[in-house]
Amino acid sequence: MTTTQHKLGSGFGATSTAAEVLDGIDLTGTLALVTGGYSGIGLETTRALTSAGAHVLVPARRRATAEEALDGIPDTTIDELDLAVLGSVRAFADRFLATGRRLALVVDSAGVMACPETRVGPGWEAQFATNHLGHFALVNHLWPAIADGARVVSVASNGHHFSPIRWADPHFRTGYDKWLAYGQAKTANVLFAVHLDALGRDRGIRAFALHPGAIMTNLGRHIAREELIAQGWIDEHGTPSDLFKTPEAGAATQVWAATSPQLDGHGGVYLENCDIAEVTTDGDTGVRAYAIDPAEAARLWTLSAELTGVDAISR
Ligand SMILES: NC(=O)c1ccc[n+]([C@@H]2O[C@H](COP(=O)([O-])OP(=O)(O)OC[C@H]3O[C@@H](n4cnc5c(N)ncnc54)[C@H](OP(=O)(O)O)[C@@H]3O)[C@@H](O)[C@H]2O)c1
Repeated sequence: MTTTQHKLGSGFGATSTAAEVLDGIDLTGTLALVTGGYSGIGLETTRALTSAGAHVLVPARRRATAEEALDGIPDTTIDELDLAVLGSVRAFADRFLATGRRLALVVDSAGVMACPETRVGPGWEAQFATNHLGHFALVNHLWPAIADGARVVSVASNGHHFSPIRWADPHFRTGYDKWLAYGQAKTANVLFAVHLDALGRDRGIRAFALHPGAIMTNLGRHIAREELIAQGWIDEHGTPSDLFKTPEAGAATQVWAATSPQLDGHGGVYLENCDIAEVTTDGDTGVRAYAIDPAEAARLWTLSAELTGVDAISR
């Protein structure tokens, strides 16, 4: 079934927490993968899923940092993965495929925001490469190990409002803008879920994209203090704005996307505040039409397959 991009009326909202959306859900015996599952809302997602009984595989580009962050959280396994390096993605997937295990939940939470111009691989823009192409390659490589009926959750952002896919210059060869680059990468995260859902539906594999809300995490590591103040994110004393969610509430929408029976039979839509979002043309809520356009999604899939050299699903 193709889901329409309209609110369901889930009964949850902006302040709902990951623990609240999991109330009554038993994930015993469930194997989940959470990229970025050792920091920010990814860490809270790991904590929530394990509390409900799941075992969580956490790929980390900094193993020691992940070991420290996950210390005391049972039922987690750490392995190495750098999403900006295709060989690392391939090696991680090969190690997992060799175990013969199946993933019931995949939450693509890792990301980088508004970094200075950085080139990775064959000169790719780093936000597009890390946030989108790395996850594209990861899910494609892991496809044989993603169980029928699984959910794949693409953590996007309302930052997708900043930019559609720049078809003429996706790698910013003609001038870099860190926020347009973040916007394009987050639009790519949404379009990825749209096309993945169309391809996976026959196996009952459903995909969702989402905006988690604004949460003070390490994601802001590239933003100077003056810019944080100018944006109104912190005051001159460093106190975060009241608009920020707690990490527990910030993780709620992706945990809801991964586990809620309210989404059974749905997929290919963009979520916010633990509900399906509406399509909007301005403001910073809802989803822009270009980010859920099936033709744009198919075109991005083709480009991503060409760039990464992997397409396990549409062939
Ligand atoms: N926080 C917000 O307000 C907000 C708002 C909208 C959307 N989001 C989205 O939410 C997601 C999680 O963000 P967060 O706030 O939890 O940020 P965070 O605390 O910075 O966590 C991001 C995670 O991604 C990992 N990562 C970055 N580059 C990687 C790479 N090349 N390979 C593997 N892992 C990599 C980081 O690992 P290292 O620590 O080792 O670098 C970290 O574990 C992101 O996709 C972000 O765009 C967040």
